[in-house]
Amino acid sequence: MNLKKTDNCVIIIFGASGDLTKRKLIPAIFELYKQGSLPEKFEVIGTASSSFTNEQFRTNMHEALLAADNDADDKVKQSFIQKLHYFVMDFKNAELFKQLAEKIKELDVTCGDKGNRIFYLATIPTLFGDIAENLASAGLNDSSPGFTRIVVEKPFGYDLNSAIELNERMHKFFTESQIYRIDHYLGKETVQNVLVTRFANGIFEPIWNRNYIHHIEITSAEKIGIENRGAFYETSGALRDMVQSHLLRLVALIAMEPPSSFESNAVRNEQIKLLQSLRRLRPEDISKQVIRGQYISSTIRGEAVKGYREEKGVAADSRTETYAAIKFYIDNWRWGGVPFYIRTGKMLPTRVTEAVIHFKKTPHILFRESNDQSDNQLILRIQPDEGILLKIGMKEPGKGFKVHTVNMDFHYTDISSEHLFEAYERLIYDCLAGDNTLFLRADAVEEAWRFIDPIQNAWKQNKNIKIYGYPAGTWGPDIADSLFDGREKITWRYPCKNLTDDGIYCEL
Ligand code: BG6
Repeated sequence: MNLKKTDNCVIIIFGASGDLTKRKLIPAIFELYKQGSLPEKFEVIGTASSSFTNEQFRTNMHEALLAADNDADDKVKQSFIQKLHYFVMDFKNAELFKQLAEKIKELDVTCGDKGNRIFYLATIPTLFGDIAENLASAGLNDSSPGFTRIVVEKPFGYDLNSAIELNERMHKFFTESQIYRIDHYLGKETVQNVLVTRFANGIFEPIWNRNYIHHIEITSAEKIGIENRGAFYETSGALRDMVQSHLLRLVALIAMEPPSSFESNAVRNEQIKLLQSLRRLRPEDISKQVIRGQYISSTIRGEAVKGYREEKGVAADSRTETYAAIKFYIDNWRWGGVPFYIRTGKMLPTRVTEAVIHFKKTPHILFRESNDQSDNQLILRIQPDEGILLKIGMKEPGKGFKVHTVNMDFHYTDISSEHLFEAYERLIYDCLAGDNTLFLRADAVEEAWRFIDPIQNAWKQNKNIKIYGYPAGTWGPDIADSLFDGREKITWRYPCKNLTDDGIYCEL
């Protein structure tokens, strides 16, 4: 894919010794470089409190590129690595930001840049406000003559109040158009494809509403656990880590009204309207409409797997959820009465993110000899095996009229063999190009917290709300099936079986 080269620029990454820089940011910037999509002239400064030299930083980042398994020639990697610089700093020390400003000016000269800067905040979230303030105190928030943009990683805030506070603090130093709040799900091709599927086809929109859709379920299952992030995860949990951000973004794209144009604010205005229509859960709804779980130890194919409470950095009596499932409604004309179900969890049997649109059954059942009374389902597969699957009933060959459900299955890779943008590549490119359509506006982040806060508060205040243990390698607590109306015999779609036989669920 040939992308227009963006303007020359210096990219400054805060939190450059961290995992995200190594695993995602540097590999993404390198990939853009390899594809020829970066500006003609650019430099990258990594900054963190670890005392690396330039050379050490470059060696670490070279290793990161090797680990990312990029097939580029080593010469290309080496020439990219020469563009990386390192600057040791304590982000709370305003004086050091003046020195950083000098360093950036030096590089402005080297890369013939007129002062274009992107500051990427990949630190722990509690530092975001301080960094913004200190950048401003060193005059680094100024957008003239070049552009200055600031990218802020998730989580943006810890709850509604902290998100409002952070927005207010950042707005003192940066305008909203300079702030790029990132949610990497919006950078995924298949997440963007939800919009194209809905709004580039005449056949879906007429039936995309309460008259034809019975319910919608969205799953984001992960096979991995919390890896080495125990201490962070203890302050977060699945609701904050996945639902407040990625899953509500998906809900917004699936359920929003068509925008009048693809202009950034037109798209973001529709998303905010949708988020405002999410029916807030009342304290008495929480135990009926939200299920939380935590993985416990199990044995998968003969191998012992640790439970969450045995992970490093996790309290032995932790009540942090590694699984959350919610049933909720959207109070607007399109979706009145249609239940939405979302779930996410760690240590589930497989990695899959998908949305399943369940259409209503035919009003009259003609082919009664058939056992197969399935509904039509449109499955938007976000990852892996990106694509779209439509389940429809067809006549089973032979005598009589038996219905058999078949799949019309499209795989995204069939469209083209071209390199598909990885989420961070796409978003970093958009930021360089000054397109913030796929970034979150302040109001969208706050609105998502307005939906999450009541759940979080109820869990905190009401110790009687249960948390269920589920063996690692299973689909989360069985009781999550009870979110569905038992009379209709519907439940979650289970793309594969549990990995363990010992499906013993318990109350923690
Ligand atoms: C991150 C969460 O935002 O998204 C992680 O903090 C999670 O806990 C990750 O594992 C999932 O992203 P992806 O792209 O692998 O689905």
